[in-house]
Amino acid sequence: MRPLLRLPPVIGHRGAAGRAPENTLAGLHRAARLGASWVEFDVRLSADGAPVVMHDPTLKRTTGAPGRVSTTPMETLASLDAGAWFDPCFAGETIPSLEAAIACVRDLGLGANVELKPAPGRAAALVENSLRAIARAVRAGRGRPPPPPLLLSSTSRTILDAVRRLAPELPRGLVAHHVPRDWRSAAVRLGCASLHVSAPSLTPARVREIKSAGLWLAVFTVNDPRRAGIFWEWGVDSIFSDFPDLLLAARRGCG
Ligand code: G3P
Ligand code: MG
Repeated sequence: MRPLLRLPPVIGHRGAAGRAPENTLAGLHRAARLGASWVEFDVRLSADGAPVVMHDPTLKRTTGAPGRVSTTPMETLASLDAGAWFDPCFAGETIPSLEAAIACVRDLGLGANVELKPAPGRAAALVENSLRAIARAVRAGRGRPPPPPLLLSSTSRTILDAVRRLAPELPRGLVAHHVPRDWRSAAVRLGCASLHVSAPSLTPARVREIKSAGLWLAVFTVNDPRRAGIFWEWGVDSIFSDFPDLLLAARRGCG
């Protein structure tokens, strides 16, 4: 069953990670300016339980700071520069809270795939606190145009199961680097509307199989427009890309 979800052919990966620092508000704005209708971003929990938008478990690559997201308080995370590493013109960009990111995509009219990263021993807190942050952001936008669609995804089945129990109305996606043997039964059990898999793990036969099960199929991460064209031909619904503009141009036939 996939009534409420409609995935677009291109989803900006971590915002538009090839064009602006990943998982920042500047990246979400850039994705919108490049024509993306949806973005994906990653969420982890700070030491004090705040859901923040961050891909890596450690801070080094995107902020230069030592330590881990999970052992650093939100106040410290919010003080780090998450933009300068990408380009000095993005200096001052911060690690956004999930609430700020949801408010931002709502303002921009972007659909959002919120990927909840595995949180050993803290899955329940990650889900509960993320759902609260989403609810706060949606409440704050009441009276304005309807919020754009949200899709919560994870590689963690514990996380997806908790989302299913606590917010069954939110569409869920199972993320896998390799298509798992039990993808069909797992998707049914977790009530997933979509399967998100890495590009090398797909074959035309596998795409047909997944599509015939009634799931949306999204593939990550593809930056070469010609390769994207092959996946669309196979029947893939949606492609995560760091350069959504390049894929959108190819989709329009002018790439
Ligand atoms: O959700 C799709 C994709 O983002 C998964 O890979 O490592 O970029 O989060 P990663
Ligand atoms: Mg991701």
